[in-house]
Amino acid sequence: MQFDIADIGLAEAGRRRISWADAEMPVLASIRERFAREKPLAGQVVGACMHITTETANLLRTLKAGGAEVYACASNPLSTQDDVAAALVKYDQIPVFAIRGEGDATYYSHIDAVLDAHPTITMDDGCDLVTRLHTQRPEQLVGMVGGTEETTTGVIRLRAMEASGALKYPIVAVNDADTKHMFDNRYGTGQSTLDGIIRATNVLIAGKVFVVAGYGYCGKGVASRARGMGAQVVVTEVDPIRALEAVMDGFRVEPMDEAAREGDIFVTVTGDRDVIAEQHFKIMKDGAILANSGHFDIEIDLKALAAMAGGERRREVKPLVEEFLVPQEGGDARIRVVAEGRLVNLGAAEGHPAAVMDMSFANQALAGEWVAKGAAELGAKVYDVPREIDDEVALLKLRSMGITIDQLTDAQREYLTSWQHGT
Ligand code: ADE
Repeated sequence: MQFDIADIGLAEAGRRRISWADAEMPVLASIRERFAREKPLAGQVVGACMHITTETANLLRTLKAGGAEVYACASNPLSTQDDVAAALVKYDQIPVFAIRGEGDATYYSHIDAVLDAHPTITMDDGCDLVTRLHTQRPEQLVGMVGGTEETTTGVIRLRAMEASGALKYPIVAVNDADTKHMFDNRYGTGQSTLDGIIRATNVLIAGKVFVVAGYGYCGKGVASRARGMGAQVVVTEVDPIRALEAVMDGFRVEPMDEAAREGDIFVTVTGDRDVIAEQHFKIMKDGAILANSGHFDIEIDLKALAAMAGGERRREVKPLVEEFLVPQEGGDARIRVVAEGRLVNLGAAEGHPAAVMDMSFANQALAGEWVAKGAAELGAKVYDVPREIDDEVALLKLRSMGITIDQLTDAQREYLTSWQHGT
């Protein structure tokens, strides 16, 4: 079996952490039990480009239990948990190609190694695997059954591919399931982003001016958790409705040109580039801390920051914290970037907690089954997760939490489908 990981000797530690996460993932575990009986993925080769974490390990184990041959690579150079990669190779015989801190060339060679296995189903987080397949291996597209996509950024890229006619096989937008983005993006990103910043810097959040760029579900989560820890939260937005929502949720809303002067800590979660750029570095406070929790490391213009500081005027001040000396009118300002401007929650912490990834990855597993079963009827489009799957994931999660809910009576159901009833 071929693989490329940091150290197989870490496998036992990885196995213990995977099993710790599994205990928080009862929905996925129940799907795994059914998959082991029914083998809905028999004959499929799954190529997964995802963050190699304990939670992803439990997803990959589920797909394998369902009968698939599974290959995995990282969806970000800094998010791989090397012990998990080792455990997957040693105990689950899943070929993994992922090393924490890998450079761009290795990152893409690992994606290529997964494509060499000729996957029939892709599971992507950010759309790099799908893009590589379409641009570098068009001859492999004929064998494709379908795919799934985990994140907002990836779904945006896929919809652009679909609109331009470039997409060649069906992909399910797992991110857009309610039981994914309303929970993972909000509570997962909210908690793990603060976790990453705190683990890397150990700064006190209380009393700080905490600027959140972007008020989608991720931004909502980060803003609410920062406020919960006593920060004064400022939100920046380009979307008037989201900006209004932030105002009515009780946050101060300002353009970045103003917020840049006031912030002690900045988090970007927009999915777009250059949200914090040269004009902002020029006016930031000495000691400002910058982190990104969007999928790609383009939200903070790090090239501009490095150019302003110059070669000698940047240094690592702590593991995962780099300080840049930026010339300003009154002297140099020390601007600190956490986790190289990459996903701070996975770069400096362990990503979202397992209990929330339970729902995201239950959707992944069930969406994988859905594309495998429906392959003959599906076109080269981006599909939503079917409502029944979303509802099933929510019900299973509630059940695992010991929570039951009311059922509609016949009269209530009839009322909801009629139009004659009035005042
Ligand atoms: N994305 C965010 N958190 C994650 C985690 N813990 N595992 C996999 N993907 C993630």
